[in-house]
Amino acid sequence: MGVCRRHLLAAALLFLSTTAADPNDERCLNHLSESLSDPHNNLRNWTKSIFSNPCEGSISALQGATCNNGRIYKLSLSNLSLKGTISPYLSNCTNLQSLDLAANSITGPIPPDLQSNSAAARVVGEVIGF
Ligand SMILES: *[C@@H]1O[C@H](CO)[C@@H](O)[C@H](O)[C@H]1NC(C)=O
Ligand SMILES: *[C@@H]1O[C@H](CO)[C@@H](O)[C@H](O)[C@H]1NC(C)=O
Ligand SMILES: *[C@@H]1O[C@H](CO)[C@@H](O)[C@H](O)[C@H]1NC(C)=O
Repeated sequence: MGVCRRHLLAAALLFLSTTAADPNDERCLNHLSESLSDPHNNLRNWTKSIFSNPCEGSISALQGATCNNGRIYKLSLSNLSLKGTISPYLSNCTNLQSLDLAANSITGPIPPDLQSNSAAARVVGEVIGF
C-alpha cells in the first residue's frame, strides 16, 4: 500500500513536470501575437502571463487554442478582424497541427522557416491560401 502510494506520487510528479509550460510554445505565442494586430481587441486574453502557461492538459486558457498533452495543438482564429503577418516563430509551436486564420486580413509571405516545417507550412498554406 505504502509502496503503491509512493509510485502514484512519482507518477503524478512526472505528469506535472511533463505538462509544464513549453518554452517553445511560449515563444511561438509571444511572437505570433506581436506579428498580428487585433484592432477590435477580440483576443482579450492573449496575454504574456497566459502565454507562459497556455495549456492545462487538453484545455487552453487562450481563446481559440486547443491543447494536447500540454502543448498547443490547434489555433482557430478565423474571422476576428486580425491584421498583420505570420511570425516565423510559429514554427516553434512544434505540436501545432492546425491553424485557422481564415477571414482575417493576414498579408505577406509564408515565412521561410515555416516552409521547412512541412506540417506547419501545409497548415498555413491551406488556410490562408497564399
Ligand atoms: C479567454 O477568452 C475566451 C473567449 O472569450 C473564454 O472562453 C476563456 O474562458 C477565456 N480564458 C480566460 C483564462 O479568461
Ligand atoms: C464574422 O464575424 C462577424 C462579427 O462577429 C459576424 O457578423 C459574421 O457573421 C462572421 N462571419 C463569418 C463568416 O463567420
Ligand atoms: C523558433 O523559430 C525561430 C524563427 O523561425 C527559428 O530560428 C528557431 O529555430 C525555432 N526553434 C524551434 C525549436 O523550432
